[in-house]
Amino acid sequence: MSTAQRKPETACEIANPGLATEGKRRTEWAASEMPVTTQIMERFRKSKPLKGQRIAACLHVTTETANLMLALKAGGADLRLCASNPLSTQDDVAAHLVKHHGISVFATHGANRKEYYRHINATLDFEPTITMDDGCDLVNTIHNKRRNLLPLIIGGTEETTTGVIRLRAMEADGALGFPVIAVNDADTKHLFDNRYGTGQSPLDGIMRATNLLLTGRTVVVAGYGWCGRGFANRARGIGAHVIVTEVDATKSLEAVMDGFTVMPMLKAAPLGDVFVTLTGDINVVDVHHMKKMKDGAIICNSGHFDCEINLAGLKKISKKVKEVRHGVKEYELSATRRVRVLVDGRLVNLSAAEGHPAAVMDMSFADQALAAEHLVKKAGKLGNKVYPMPADLDERVARMKLKALGVAIDTLTAEQKAYLASYEHGT
Ligand SMILES: NC(=O)c1ccc[n+]([C@@H]2O[C@H](COP(=O)([O-])OP(=O)(O)OC[C@H]3O[C@@H](n4cnc5c(N)ncnc54)[C@H](O)[C@@H]3O)[C@@H](O)[C@H]2O)c1
Repeated sequence: MSTAQRKPETACEIANPGLATEGKRRTEWAASEMPVTTQIMERFRKSKPLKGQRIAACLHVTTETANLMLALKAGGADLRLCASNPLSTQDDVAAHLVKHHGISVFATHGANRKEYYRHINATLDFEPTITMDDGCDLVNTIHNKRRNLLPLIIGGTEETTTGVIRLRAMEADGALGFPVIAVNDADTKHLFDNRYGTGQSPLDGIMRATNLLLTGRTVVVAGYGWCGRGFANRARGIGAHVIVTEVDATKSLEAVMDGFTVMPMLKAAPLGDVFVTLTGDINVVDVHHMKKMKDGAIICNSGHFDCEINLAGLKKISKKVKEVRHGVKEYELSATRRVRVLVDGRLVNLSAAEGHPAAVMDMSFADQALAAEHLVKKAGKLGNKVYPMPADLDERVARMKLKALGVAIDTLTAEQKAYLASYEHGT
């Protein structure tokens, strides 16, 4: 249990202000890998495009998020930040933002459900004009419990696939009360963050939690979307035998053509040493699967919510549950069959490791900063819909990242432009 502490000068609820120096060190380290976000921060500092805006952010409280917060603050925004997952909060980062930058943070690592929603509500208490969500919990709370805030909000942004799915369901139902930009769907977001970020960081989480040698093991990857394909490829790269499970025919075919073995979860269950869910779906690893798993099989999740593994069902059929290592719970089904679940089925990359590398979050958070600026420019002109990230902003982030990496590319000549716009040429 964390001890909540309050500072009178900056409204907050954090675990330990004494961790601020370490948070600063680590945030600065991440900044060195975030040149695009840093450049945007420098521009924001001069032009103050967010002046007068109150931004409520519900994001994983990590070093990369801290750098986004600093960019938004440089742009003139007043900020409040809470966590988008109870186990992803880095308490030193929360302390750093409060102590060194006077940014209100309401987040403690390991917060229970009541504390989690108290933090969300405290973040909303300053009546935001912009919301920045990762999973739609902020938007959901506003629509269900704090509807008085709706008229104040010019728009929001959404960071992840699961959040965008929830928002599209709200839009289809006519329930969405303000415009939201689906930052997740920007090419510079999901093609890199979901694919390469989720390619690497869940492996880090699994290895930190278990110290397992993955080489030669059978890893079952549920879902071959952007996250799943990234993860499957990295797991293969480390020497694991990878089995993919899917429900989508085309994605299954892609996995086959990419050289993976594809089969239903029930067939994969007795074969896997490690199971990783990356689907955004519910009960993807269910009780009937777990009953067939090898003794000692490891199960974890890297999708947004902790519903991908049927933990309630697993608890019901277990004779004993014990923590066998920090973040590893062993469920004893019988004298000869135990399964081990990592970090209670929460995002393994953020709960057992530090989340995505800063170099990839650089683009996701550059998108977030530009999306917030766009919402201010378009205030009052957008409908209550889910909007794509404007293509010119998406491309700007790609170009900035290439430049930061020192990579030059070709430009279309006038002749090539004319050729590509014509239909006269043939064989
Ligand atoms: N861990 C992280 O840091 C992180 C980062 C980005 C996204 N996410 C989350 O990861 C999840 C996946 O995101 P994505 O961008 O890859 O989504 P996606 O839509 O590209 O892919 C999801 C895939 O899962 C498949 N699927 C659905 N139900 C399934 C089932 N029962 N069995 C097997 N496959 C099933 C779908 O057909 C789809 O191909 C989402 O919850 C997203 O919010 C997590």
